[in-house]
Amino acid sequence: MTLKTRPGVMEIAPYVGGEASVPGIAKPAKLSSNENPLGPSPKAIAAFRDAAVEMHRYPDGGAEKLRDGIARHFGLEKACIVCGNGSDELIALLTRAYAGPGDEVLFSAHGFLMYRLSALGADATPKAAPEKNYATDMEALLALVTPVTRIVFIGNPNNPTGSYMTAAQMRELRARLRSDILMVIDAAYAEFVEDRDYNAGEELVRAGDNVVMLRTFSKIFGLAGLRLGWAFCPPSVADVLNRIRAPFNTSMPAQAAAVAALEDREHVAKSLAHNKKWRDWLAAELRKLGYVVHPSVGNFLLVEFNDADAADRYLKSRGLILRKMGVYGLGHCLRITVGTEAETRALATAMADYANAKAKAAIVR
Ligand SMILES: Cc1ncc(COP(=O)(O)O)c(C=O)c1O
Repeated sequence: MTLKTRPGVMEIAPYVGGEASVPGIAKPAKLSSNENPLGPSPKAIAAFRDAAVEMHRYPDGGAEKLRDGIARHFGLEKACIVCGNGSDELIALLTRAYAGPGDEVLFSAHGFLMYRLSALGADATPKAAPEKNYATDMEALLALVTPVTRIVFIGNPNNPTGSYMTAAQMRELRARLRSDILMVIDAAYAEFVEDRDYNAGEELVRAGDNVVMLRTFSKIFGLAGLRLGWAFCPPSVADVLNRIRAPFNTSMPAQAAAVAALEDREHVAKSLAHNKKWRDWLAAELRKLGYVVHPSVGNFLLVEFNDADAADRYLKSRGLILRKMGVYGLGHCLRITVGTEAETRALATAMADYANAKAKAAIVR
């Protein structure tokens, strides 16, 4: 007799995070995981250190202070906020709660990988809708809805394409989905979006009982290593998540650091300004060199190559780690996280050298 998993489990290829090292290079630039290049707020670091002396205590399982802080900072109802061990955990919990064998979980083809993996983990069937111009195509999504569709995940903005759907498009999508389909708006990069026609999702959550907005402390707040995400949900969904989550799913130092990170508005403003300046600078430099760079409202850029693997090897040799995109069906692209000024300038120089070398090789041939 051998152990038997549930059917979907062995179909899951383990998630591979962004690479962090290059043999022979002491301090490479890690531009592979959309982290905050300015690091965490010094106030968050201090709060984390202060919390260390209490690490023999269990955390507050209800994350009361943190939920107070989130509610105040974002103007939301505390009872509708549920914290998770990264928004990854919340993606998995929502999928497990609302989909199972025979059910379908729908998302856009180049959507965040965890939507697919969570569906498989819940024994549900993942379904990917084709995109148009590297962006979510509402008609293609709606065309794939069947009587057994239970959840639609929308990365908004989407990682790795950097595109977003407007508030009006999101309202239209909700209106055209059956009311018993849960719409999950994954707004991990919401803080970076300055476009006025964008809404992270709170207005749709409030409008009914079938929309959830997911957010994270991993991106602009610079706390990816602490694993902290949160959901803003209708009370009925919050109730469901609170029943199935682990009782102490977020750690005490993480909660303390996140409260301090929320209060440090200066660090968030600095991170936002840095991202806009260097993302736009880098996109312009790369376009001047002839690269196809997709428009992005996030803290990353998706760039096309003739041979992305060769480009990745070359950039690694220069100490620059980007993210390969094969698992997203974008094998001809690399994703670049906006780094520090020095990292961004070094990348632009290396990409120029690469383009020049390719041009020379083409002439010689
Ligand atoms: C679109 C999207 N959603 C969710 C996450 C996961 O975030 P967390 O670190 O909160 O699990 C990421 C991380 O890269 C992401 O890009």
